[in-house]
Formats: sequence, C-alpha cells, structure tokens
Amino acid sequence: MKAADFGADFLWGVATAAAQIEGAATTHGKGPSIWDTFAKRTGKVKKGHHPEIACNFYQQYKDDIALVKILGFKVFRFSISWSRILPLGKGLVNEEGINFYHNVIDECLANEIIPYVTLYHWDLPEALAKNGGWTSYSVNADFNEFVMLCAKTYGNKVKNWIVINEPFGFTSLGYMLGVHAPGETGLTNFFAAVQHATIAQADGGRILRSEVSHANIGTTFSCSEIIPYTQNAADLLAAKRVDCLMNRLFIEPALGMGFPTADWDVLEKFTVSHSAWRHKERMTFDFDFIGLQNYFPLVIKFNAFIPVIQAWEVKAKNRKKAHTAMGWEINADSFYNIIKQFAAYPNIKNLMITENGAAFNDKLIDNYVQDNERIDYFSSYLKAMLKAKNEGVNITGYMAWTLMDNFEWAEGYQARFGLVHTDFKTQQRTIKDSGYWWKSFLEQE
Ligand code: BGC
Repeated sequence: MKAADFGADFLWGVATAAAQIEGAATTHGKGPSIWDTFAKRTGKVKKGHHPEIACNFYQQYKDDIALVKILGFKVFRFSISWSRILPLGKGLVNEEGINFYHNVIDECLANEIIPYVTLYHWDLPEALAKNGGWTSYSVNADFNEFVMLCAKTYGNKVKNWIVINEPFGFTSLGYMLGVHAPGETGLTNFFAAVQHATIAQADGGRILRSEVSHANIGTTFSCSEIIPYTQNAADLLAAKRVDCLMNRLFIEPALGMGFPTADWDVLEKFTVSHSAWRHKERMTFDFDFIGLQNYFPLVIKFNAFIPVIQAWEVKAKNRKKAHTAMGWEINADSFYNIIKQFAAYPNIKNLMITENGAAFNDKLIDNYVQDNERIDYFSSYLKAMLKAKNEGVNITGYMAWTLMDNFEWAEGYQARFGLVHTDFKTQQRTIKDSGYWWKSFLEQE
C-alpha cells in the first residue's frame, strides 16, 4: 500500500483541537472555557492535570506547523477557541485572540499547508455555561454570533470548515455522564444539548455558506461499528438502540431524515416531543463533506438493569481482543464496516476521515519513541479505508489523530496519541517512529 494508491488528489492531514494543545488558557485576553473550570474540580481529570499550558502551541505554533510539513501532511486541522476570541462567549472581541488565529492560518498558508478549521471542539466559554450551556436554546444565538465572527474574519483565507467536532462526544460525556466538561448528568440535559447542537451544526453551515465564497463546509461525527454480542433477539435489539444513539442521532437530522425514532421509539419522547423540535426545519444542511471519526467498535449485550437503553458494552479486554492504552479494541475491519454503513446514506456528497488514531504507552528512550504498535494500527486502518475506497466509497481525505501528545480531556496528559512525543515539562517535541513512518508513507510515489 502506498499513499499514491489513494489517488493524487487525496488529502492527508493531521488533526488537533484548541483546548488540547494551545495552553495560554487564561492569559492573552482569553476567557475561561468549560474545560478550564472543569479541570479545576477535584477528581474530574486524572492526576489533577489541567489544560493551562498543554503543548504551549500558543507560543510554539510556528515550530509545530513546521512539524506538520516535515511529516509531509498537506492539511492541518485545528480548532478556534471560542473564548479566546469572545472571552464572554459573545459581545466583546479579544483582538489578540483574533490575531493569533490569523498568524496560525498565515503560517499554514506560507508553508503550503491547507488549514481545516473546526469551529467547536468542546470548549464552550464558561460564561455561557452559567446560562445552561448547550442545554439552553440561547446557546444557538451565541454560537451563530461566534460562527459569523469567524467566517467574516477568516473567510477570505480559510475555505475548509468543520462546524462541530463529534456532537455525540460532548453531549453524552459532558451532559449525560458528567465525565467531561461541564460535568452535567441525566437524559433531560443530554437530549436538550442534542437538539441545540443539531440546530447549531446546520445553522453554522448556513452562515458559512452565506459569508464565505467557495467554502467547503463539513461537520464531523464519531462513529463505531456496533456488534451484537450474540445473534439473540435481545442482543440484536440492544445493538440497534446503541447504533441509533451513537451513530445515527446527529447525522440523520442533518441529512433531513429527522431523529431515528422509527428504530427506537423511546427517542420520540426525548426528541420530537422536546420544545426545541419546533426548530426542526433548521436542523438540516447540505454539507459538502461529512467527517467521520473512528476509534473502536463496540460489542453490545442486552442488560435489563441499564435504564432506558438496556444495553451494556462487553469490553475488548474481557473478550481478549487487542486494544490500545485507552482499552479501545483495535479492529481495522470494523473501520471498513462503519465507513460502508455511513457511505450507504444516499445524500452524503463525500466522506473524509477527520480523525483516527491510537494511544499507546510510549516510552522516550535516547530521543526515540519506538511505537511499532501505532505503525501497525495506522497501516491496518489505512488498508481498510483503501478497500472501502476501491469499492467506490467517495472518501477524499484522512486526518490522523494527532500531531503531538496533548491534553487528552479527562485522561489528562497520560494518554499519548501523538505522532510526535511531547515532553510536558520542557515542551520538547520528538518525532516518534510512527511520525517517520508517515513521512516515508507520504513521500512514496
Ligand atoms: C476527539 C479528540 C480526542 C480523541 C481521542 C475524539 O473523540 O475529537 O478530541 O482527543 O477522540 O480520545
């Protein structure tokens, strides 16, 4: 397998997110985000880690973009921190923050790297959390103000936009399970957040379309092949419910299909009966591309003790399957299967893989990180993607997660996903063997 097998136009990139790399979290005019506040709460982030400094990308962005180039990627995906440019979430603009992203974009362009800009990668301004954050309909007007500002400010330079990163990720972890910021729990909060995020992803698309000429507009969804533990009816139905929740909940309204209530009637109560549903016509947008982000499949078993969903995950470890340091099953066939599942939607124009990668217990020894497991991971996942592409799936790009080890949300700095090792004490970067593997893969004719 060579990069050229994917076609000369195929876009290869690396993805990052503001809160995970920038640092300067409460300086240079930036307002706090929900992650700055959440990380200060005892026990919320492992070892009490905090995104205050992260990878110091705010100061080192030139060197880090140089690394993107050295590794041979054509695309750099990063996100704009909402509270860096609008410290209170709306109103007052922080010019220093505005200039920072001008500098990052200009640095990409000067290096012939295409910027893919994510508007929302989970770092809601703390000031808006006080009003209920994503559970409140007022977030939609605020989000639109933020998108409008980004579109008007950067739209003449940036053509590729991603409205939201994994809405299922931040609504479920942050508003249902309480393990991510802002730490809210319960189905009422979750489904309110789901509705407002669904409106936001489509509204964002419309604003970009009206403000940015020749924009290429996408949004991203997490996805996981859902594998029933057995072929018993109960397990099959449990798997179907999890599929509705994890794979279908956000994309189907975006595509104009509404929420998947026909396959899971309980959803009816929380979605089409919710007050936000009055805005249902706003939930659809004709995206130029759909970004898929895949890390693992899930094996699902019926469990009557789990409220509402009545389903339970049988972990990779308990099934004795190969897994990453996060405990996530390594299974390239499941990547192929989930790509095919999404490709079956008739109204998707093209797919990009906007994130895929793995954390391992890397060791920096004598300035080297021998991360063969990560090389094996990428090479098997790329083969699976090539198979889907060769069968006619319109996949136009792939972005590895992630450029360098960073603040991995509730896991803190322990989970290392980077192609480049970050020493969080010295901010020294060291290209891992997997980074060199990518470099030679992308260089081959
Ligand atoms: C998120 C990233 C995160 C990665 C690994 C994705 O869901 O978009 O921000 O670091 O998964 O957990």
